[in-house]
Amino acid sequence: MTSGLAVESLTVRYGGLVAVDDVSLEAPTGRITGLIGPNGAGKTTLFNASNGLVRPASGRVRLDGRDITRLPLARRAQLGLGRSFQRIELFNSLSVRQNVELGREGVLAGSMPWRQLFSRRSEQRTVAAAADEALVVCGLETFADRPAGALSTGNRRLVELARILAGGFHMLLLDEPSSGLDDRESERFGAILTHVVREREIGILLVEHHMELVLSVCHYLYVLDFGKLLFEGTPQDAVRSEVVRAAYLGTAA
Ligand SMILES: Nc1ncnc2c1ncn2[C@@H]1O[C@H](COP(=O)(O)OP(=O)(O)OP(=O)(O)O)[C@@H](O)[C@H]1O
Ligand SMILES: [Mg+2]
Repeated sequence: MTSGLAVESLTVRYGGLVAVDDVSLEAPTGRITGLIGPNGAGKTTLFNASNGLVRPASGRVRLDGRDITRLPLARRAQLGLGRSFQRIELFNSLSVRQNVELGREGVLAGSMPWRQLFSRRSEQRTVAAAADEALVVCGLETFADRPAGALSTGNRRLVELARILAGGFHMLLLDEPSSGLDDRESERFGAILTHVVREREIGILLVEHHMELVLSVCHYLYVLDFGKLLFEGTPQDAVRSEVVRAAYLGTAA
């Protein structure tokens, strides 16, 4: 595979716990790849190892074929790897537009994932244009000047999506981006994901518990359980798979 994310025999340990156990997967651009599994399966940990928040015990991470396993987080972001977090991470007192503009500049770890480092006017114009486009894609134009804290959960999730889209990444790791949304909001969210992947040829690796969304938007699925890859295949095959049903779908769907 040339374009997108590839994880090869990745193992991540927290002390004695093997949180990700020899997992390999591919998430090419132009596709939405699902990564599902029960709570504690290792999904977020795989994201953390992919974007540089944690160091794997062994294995490799590649972006567009390039080995990025040892690169710092900010460098991976510059190379086009964007990542969203499981909890909503918006600045409530800033406007929707300001939150989205932050997506273009700077990526930090932990409790301050985003920072603003605008300097030149031309850069400011680029940032504004990227934010405008992302706001339109996510249908948020009418909320642009409202404080992010005043929006519903559904719209706040869309602001997060707009922010990562404004970042100009070509590979996105989205960690439960639709959690807290009702069925109708999830459907809209899924339609936006499908649209941007088709229009921009970006890749998405999607961690999501909302099975209807996963099954409707993903081209291919990986299922983790206790850190191990339990299954990979199409959503249709996943639904039919006895092991997947037993581990996950049977209880969560
Ligand atoms: N920083 C950490 N230190 C120690 N153990 C951790 C740490 N982060 C996660 N774990 C453990 O690693 C395992 C995998 O956790 P992880 O958060 O990756 O799961 P997940 O699949 O994202 O779960 P969820 O669906 O609940 O978000 C769990 O057993 C968890 O308790
Ligand atoms: Mg998680």
